[in-house]
Amino acid sequence: MHTVKAIYPGTFDPLTNGHLDLIARGSKIVDELVVAILRNSEKSPLFSVDERVEMITEATAEFGNVTVATFDGLLVDFCRQQEAKAVLRGIRAISDYEYEFQMAMMNRKLDPELETLFMMPAEKYTYVSSRLIKSVFQLGGDVSSLVPPMVVERLKVKTAG
Ligand code: PNS
Repeated sequence: MHTVKAIYPGTFDPLTNGHLDLIARGSKIVDELVVAILRNSEKSPLFSVDERVEMITEATAEFGNVTVATFDGLLVDFCRQQEAKAVLRGIRAISDYEYEFQMAMMNRKLDPELETLFMMPAEKYTYVSSRLIKSVFQLGGDVSSLVPPMVVERLKVKTAG
């Protein structure tokens, strides 16, 4: 049988409803979807890798074909190790395109067998990014309709201390 396993890589610091929307869409078109958190990100994250794994695991528990993993080094190597044929990425607006195009082409250069699948999240999340969520929350803004409730709770704990 021909099954498709895809990796949805990212920083997820933190998970947003936009990410979740993409996971829901992706999980409908591939057989197995692995949400993969980059461990050695150059960005200095607010949440530890373990905290992000916990949040994503809880938020994706309802999907029978979604798992959570972490990776270091090249994405193409992780995909090979996972025997995944595709990478899933979201494109919100034209501004995402250039960066995504470069990454997809570089990954294709590194592994011509690996395909990148692009999906668009729901329009209501097109302006949502982890970076904006953190900055708006830290300035006292309400982000409760843009991230899962457990992420709001974790943001409160993080910024209280
Ligand atoms: O959510 P992000 O931060 O936009 O995700 C970026 C990510 C993790 C997908 C990207 O930085 C990545 O794949 N890093 C792993 C290193 C790698 O493979 N680099 C070459 C690909 S261009």
